[in-house]
Parts: sequence; C-alpha cells; structure tokens
Amino acid sequence: MTNTLLVLGSANADLVVEVGRRPAGGETVLGGDTVVLPGGKGANTAVAAARVGASVALVGAVGGDGYGSLLRESLESSGVDTLLVKTSSRPTGIAYITVTPDGENSIVVSPGANADVSPSDVDAVSFDGARVLTCSLEVPLETVIHAVDVAAEADVRTVLNLSPVAELPAETLARLTVLIVNEHEAAQLAPTWHDLLELGPKAAIVTLGARGAAVVAMAGTVEVPSIQVDEVVDTTGAGDAFAGAFSARFAEGDTIVKAAEYAVKVAALSVTKAGAQPSYPTAAEVSSLAAG
Ligand code: RIB
Repeated sequence: MTNTLLVLGSANADLVVEVGRRPAGGETVLGGDTVVLPGGKGANTAVAAARVGASVALVGAVGGDGYGSLLRESLESSGVDTLLVKTSSRPTGIAYITVTPDGENSIVVSPGANADVSPSDVDAVSFDGARVLTCSLEVPLETVIHAVDVAAEADVRTVLNLSPVAELPAETLARLTVLIVNEHEAAQLAPTWHDLLELGPKAAIVTLGARGAAVVAMAGTVEVPSIQVDEVVDTTGAGDAFAGAFSARFAEGDTIVKAAEYAVKVAALSVTKAGAQPSYPTAAEVSSLAAG
C-alpha cells in the first residue's frame, strides 16, 4: 500500500513522573509513581496523523525489548504502517520526563535505537505515491538531510519540525516546503518571523502554545488562533500533535493555513490528557469540537 505521508523520526518510551517542582542542580525532590507511555517525536507525529485519518508510515527504529513492543503496539493500534521501523541491536530510546502541576514538562532523551536510523534506511523507502515527508530531529542529522534531499528530488513536499533545535545546512533549509518552529526556536534562528523565509523554506509555521500558530509566507503572515480548553493537564507532545495533524491535512491537499487551522485544534485537545500519544484525538473528536 502507498502511504501518502512519510514520517522520519524517533520512537521513545516516555518515563513520566509528576513533580511539585523541578529539582535544582544537586537537589532531590520526590515525585509520583512512574508511568511508562509511548512517545518520541517521530512516533508521536505519525500517531497524531494516523488518528486523524492519514495513511502514514514511520521510518525509525526501536530495540528488541519490551519498550520496543510498547511502541509498535501503540503505532499499529493507531493505524501507522510500521514496515519501515527496524529493530536495532541498541535499546529502545527512552525519554525521562518530569511534569509540573501547570502541565509543563522537561525532558532528557537517551536516543538508543534512534541513533541507528541511517541514510541507508531512507534509501530503502519508496517515495512513490508519497505527498509529504515530515521529519523531526531526534534521529541523526545526516539521515534527516539525506531524506529531505531524496524527497525533494522525488517532488515530495517536505516538512521539518525543528525540534530539538539543531543547525542544518543552508541547502537543506532551502529544500523545505514548510519549516515548523516554536517561538524560542524562531528567535534563535532569525531576528523576525519573516526572516525565517530568508533561510529558504517556502513557508514557516511558528507555534505559539495556547495562542495557536502563525503561518509565515512571502504573501504575509496569517495568525491562526487556538481554541480554549478547560484544563491543561500535560503539554508533552503537543508540538508533535500539531506537526502530525498539519502533515495529515497537508498531504490531503489542504492549504498550509487550512492545515494549520486544523492542527491547532488537535494540539489544544492533546494538552487536556496525560502523555503524548495517548492524548491525541481522533478525527471524530476534532469534528465534534467544531460542532459543539
Ligand atoms: O515532544 C515530546 C516527545 O519528546 C516525548 O514523547 C519524548 O519522547 C521526547 O522525544
């Protein structure tokens, strides 16, 4: 089967602990029980896209361990094609996550198997029938660079969620259709949002958390406001939810602004539940929001 959306990125087991506040250097604080959830920026993006109806495959790697099985089960039960998820001899990536009462998180990632995702894995991918490739940066940079090159050669539109932030060659940035960054990343990259376009992408999206997103293109900047949610439980993976839902709609032919309007709703719904992948809404849940 041809997948119209390809996602290249990480898959991690998220070891999540709620804490009253984060410890300072040299300090110990007690938290709640550890909860193990499927995560990783690539797997999150793919699951968010599949939940809202995309035909999506993940290119990535997990270990041959229990956490790898947890990830495969989450991906497959959400409808993500895992044929291109290889089993590495390294352990599955792990993210150590603390969540504070305001729903904010801090994350340390041990990449494990994600470090094994190589340019040759990209060469094994057929881009026939793909409309969009979406990448994030918890897999080796050389693999992402190669994937963007191959996709651009094949006339597949390229989306890069520049998270975690890293320095990319000018030629790669110039080959992007859409660059997604948050406000902090945008400020690190360019003096103004409009200057993000000087880096080369055809458009940039700056995600603004609870305020929504801004779509920046040569024609101008369009602000896409978010929706109000009653309670913020956990913001982990909200950016990936945005990237996944955006890519799903973009691959279906929506304009960048229309796809971003849909994606801000998905990201807003995702913060009302704990965890990354378990918090992502289905297309029906997004539609009922519009009807309500
Ligand atoms: O963006 C959230 C994700 O970052 C978590 O699921 C964690 O695995 C880290 O990769």
